[in-house]
Amino acid sequence: MAKIKMQFVCQNCGATAPKWLGKCPDCGEWNTFVEETATVEVVRKQGLSNFSEPKNINDIISGDKERLDTGIHELNRVLGGGLVKGSLTLISGDPGIGKSTLLLQCANNISKKYGNVLYVSGEESEEQIKIRGDRLNVTADELFIVSETSLEAIVAHIERMKPIFVIIDSIQTIYTDRVTSAPGSVSQVRECANGLMRVGKILGIPLFIVAHVTKQGELAGPRVLEHMVDSVLYFEGERTEEIRILRTMKNRFGTTSEIGVFEMAEEGLVEVYDPSKMFLEDSMGSKEGSVVIGIMEGSRPILVQVQSLVAETKAVMPRRTSVGIEPLRLSLILAVLEKKLKIPFYASDVYVNVVGGLSVEGTSQDLGVALSLISSAKSKEIKYGKVIAIGEIGLTGEIRPVNNVDRLINEGMKIGYTTFVIPERNKEKIKVKGVELITVSTLKEAITKLF
Ligand code: TYD
Ligand code: MG
Repeated sequence: MAKIKMQFVCQNCGATAPKWLGKCPDCGEWNTFVEETATVEVVRKQGLSNFSEPKNINDIISGDKERLDTGIHELNRVLGGGLVKGSLTLISGDPGIGKSTLLLQCANNISKKYGNVLYVSGEESEEQIKIRGDRLNVTADELFIVSETSLEAIVAHIERMKPIFVIIDSIQTIYTDRVTSAPGSVSQVRECANGLMRVGKILGIPLFIVAHVTKQGELAGPRVLEHMVDSVLYFEGERTEEIRILRTMKNRFGTTSEIGVFEMAEEGLVEVYDPSKMFLEDSMGSKEGSVVIGIMEGSRPILVQVQSLVAETKAVMPRRTSVGIEPLRLSLILAVLEKKLKIPFYASDVYVNVVGGLSVEGTSQDLGVALSLISSAKSKEIKYGKVIAIGEIGLTGEIRPVNNVDRLINEGMKIGYTTFVIPERNKEKIKVKGVELITVSTLKEAITKLF
């Protein structure tokens, strides 16, 4: 027996309270509490026969090998080598970024290769999806589209059709009769996701669920959704530019460091196999304040351009603005430059930008960022026209070695770079021939050699 009781639920984080609150004590957001019904499940008495026996780990059959090929290499890689059967994946991103496009293309591929695929849309009519499908050249014979928002109806469709793969676009539009609050509210989202997860796990069907994001870029609805699902993908990019990047925030079946790069074209999303070329398109010469850096994104080397602008200011608190570089990393680099090289950034606004909308993590970009800052501060270009900088900066001003320098150099050679600035301690292990290596062990040395 379930008994009904009212409660107030924070629409941002899912926290509950017996009375209305102005500010959520859990996440600190204001005016997020909404009254919803709570279904209190009365604990059922379980017979002994219901207990599951612990199994020896060696006896458990792993279904991990059973991965579906989505037909999109970039997506396969981000998922950790394909779509795991029975897995639940959340895909989020700004409106209009291309989530529905990516999923329709994926549904088309999977359907052609494996059979029945069900695409449930709560946002668009069947005709609208068909129009998009025509643009994307979707020709699968066993791809079924249904415009439906009732969880019970969707589950019934899945149980009857037993598709190979199901897409739900989007979780915020789905509702269940068991909860009285509006679609998109925390209770609805949680209940619906639970219902979908149950049917997916029982039948071994992988599900992709689109989830909207809030203005702050967080998943709309409860954080609990992120804990429930197996993987969380994030689709990002500037809507005005064509490059789209698919990232993993969570992945139970692979690493979270891989990214997938796409280009939004007339005929849908096109995979970009050579992202370096794309990010560096018209930056072959060196310009003031601009340096090409080599970074690893998961298992793939990528070259991007970092641009800095250092402008004098009389403001008491000079600006520090960075796009694509972690602000903390930038502060650290600036502090080392000030202390060790006596460059007075305290009287300047500093802007740093990674071209192409990529967010750079890790440390191998440090040297390049420092060089671009110095170049702008001194209003001087780097001596060697086409050069790629790789290296981490330590707090004493030393240039520390980084991993995979070999692979970054190879990537650079592929697109016509021949000069590389690398940490001294990396030099011995470099086997690549035919390139000019400028080795540096301190920031000071880098400045002398490059300016
Ligand atoms: P969509 O997949 O509907 O975004 P989301 O589901 O994330 O809200 O993508 C919509 C945008 O993509 C829209 O601005 C038009 C653009 N687009 C193309 O440029 N080419 C295409 O082939 C398609 C289908 C969409
Ligand atoms: Mg959409």
